[in-house]
Amino acid sequence: MPDEYLLDTDVVREFIAKVREQIAGAGSPAAACDAIRPGFAELLADPDWLPDRFQQPNPDSGMGGGIGQWLLFRAADRSLTLFALIVPPGSATPIHDHLAWGLVGLYRGTQDEEIYDEAVALTERRALAPGDFYALLPPRDDIHRVRTTSDEQSVSIHLLTNDTGCVWRHSYDTGKPEPFRSGYVNVACES
Ligand SMILES: [Fe+2]
Repeated sequence: MPDEYLLDTDVVREFIAKVREQIAGAGSPAAACDAIRPGFAELLADPDWLPDRFQQPNPDSGMGGGIGQWLLFRAADRSLTLFALIVPPGSATPIHDHLAWGLVGLYRGTQDEEIYDEAVALTERRALAPGDFYALLPPRDDIHRVRTTSDEQSVSIHLLTNDTGCVWRHSYDTGKPEPFRSGYVNVACES
C-alpha cells in the first residue's frame, strides 16, 4: 500500500514532507511536536488549502451527531495521518481517546473542549478559536470531548501518528472504556 493523498496538493505534500523530516530529526514525540508547531500554525492560518468538500458533515457518522472525519493523507505504514474533523453546530463527539501523539488545531468555527483523566473525571475545560492548537502526548491528556459552539460547523485539523479513523480505540461515554472506531467519510477501514 503506497502513501495515500486524498487531498493531493502541493500544500499538503510539502507539509507532510516537512513533518516527516521534523519527526526523523526529533528525539522524542514532544520535541517533534515543537518542531512541527510553526508549520502547523501556518496551515491553520491559510484559508485556501482545504476544499469545501472536506468541510462537510456526515449524516451517516459512526460518531453520531453528523460528525464527519475526512482523511486527507495517510502514510503507507499507517504511522501518520492528516484529517479534518467536522462537527456540526451543537454536536459533540463522544468522550474518546486517540492512542497516538500529534497535533490538533481549530481551522473554522469555535469549540469547547473537555479533558478527562483516566478515571474519566473532568480535569479541564477550554474554549478554542480558529488558529488555536494543542499537542496530544498520551497518556497525558489523551481523553477528551469537543463540542461545537459556533453557528457554523467547526473544522479541526488533526496530524496524528496512527491511522486514527481505523484503529480500534475507546469511547468513555458510559464512564468506562468501550471499543470505538470512528472511521472516515471518504475511505473504508479494513475489517
Ligand atoms: Fe479527539
